[in-house]
Amino acid sequence: YVSRFENHYIIPGGITEPKKIVCISCNNVAFPQLVKKDDPNTDLIASQLFSVVNVLLKKDSACRERNLKMLMYKVIPIAKDVGLIEFVEGAQSLSDVLVRKDTDSLHARFDPQDFNFVTCRQMISGIQKSYKIKLGKAKTEGERMQLHSDMTRELRSKFDLICDKVSPVFRYHFLEISSSASDYLGKRLNYTRSAAASSMVGYIVGLGDRHLSNILIDADRQLLHIDLGQVFDFARATPRYPETVPFRLTRDMVDGMGMLGVEGSFIRCCIESMRVMRENKNALLSVIDILLYESNLERLSAKVNDNNGAEKMALFATLVRGSIKGKLEGAYGGEVLGIETQIRRLIREATDPENLCQLFHGWSAWI
Ligand SMILES: Nc1ncnc2c1ncn2[C@@H]1O[C@H](COP(=O)(O)OP(=O)(O)O)[C@@H](O)[C@H]1O
Ligand SMILES: [Mg+2]
Repeated sequence: YVSRFENHYIIPGGITEPKKIVCISCNNVAFPQLVKKDDPNTDLIASQLFSVVNVLLKKDSACRERNLKMLMYKVIPIAKDVGLIEFVEGAQSLSDVLVRKDTDSLHARFDPQDFNFVTCRQMISGIQKSYKIKLGKAKTEGERMQLHSDMTRELRSKFDLICDKVSPVFRYHFLEISSSASDYLGKRLNYTRSAAASSMVGYIVGLGDRHLSNILIDADRQLLHIDLGQVFDFARATPRYPETVPFRLTRDMVDGMGMLGVEGSFIRCCIESMRVMRENKNALLSVIDILLYESNLERLSAKVNDNNGAEKMALFATLVRGSIKGKLEGAYGGEVLGIETQIRRLIREATDPENLCQLFHGWSAWI
């Protein structure tokens, strides 16, 4: 039972500024939690799906051996637009580890040069802001398309310049936190495996908005994906900066995986996780049907279309289900692919600079 709440709160970050409060139980155990003013519906659906996937992964010996799973936290909706979120202590965001100035981040220490994080961000945001104004004034669809292609060209050249000047540094994180060679290898492996599993599960669920503050890394160096508001590929369909990648596999993410990059444990673990999800396609689709049926479809589909007639909601559910079914069958750009080819295409898509340069500056695609 609840005994009391601590009488102060902190705001760990985020645009919605969720408040972290600590609940103390009768037997004096502290339960830190976040009170977040945002629709908890999608977070709940995503975490329910993750827990089902975790059961499937745990049942499979190849995945169990590799400890492939999604790290989870509890989500409890307490109103239409307020949720309680279990706060995972000891996890740091990738933003804190890699780029934040005030946290003595890796990029500031291991790659100090003129192109610091803030400068790079301004270079990208400058282009995006200037085209936002131009696009707002454009009168015809043709003009808009032309502006869009001009913007992409400019972004690409800035992105290439930034990548040329800024070197990935995530490998140093594992060196710094390890006490011995075996500790180092173990932590790096934990990271690589959890990056693989969460990329594959994230792809199937259509999890977007994977910027540096929405991915945390825990004490064992496994990734914890938070802020699950963008599921079912919502982020790929937003009008202004539609996301162009299936998961976060930027240069720093790969740098943390060691010499072999994606070609070692990463791809092996991607294959095993994807295999299990594809083998359990029918089970997963049944769960998705139930989750869609039980969730508030009206609020969910409102995220992608403004008119919420019953027909539109039914259409939305059909589209979501169809898209996930396709992914579980290897559908990709009009082809049907085997597991390894599917994953290699996804990796190519996630690492293609032409895709990365188009992401919203807040995504920090060069990190
Ligand atoms: N489950 C969690 N465990 C630990 N820290 C969390 C958790 N959820 C959020 N946080 C922290 O709170 C910050 C804001 O939360 P987030 O859900 O991303 O809010 P927003 O939607 O406003 O971005 C995160 O960047 C992270 O530092
Ligand atoms: Mg966030």
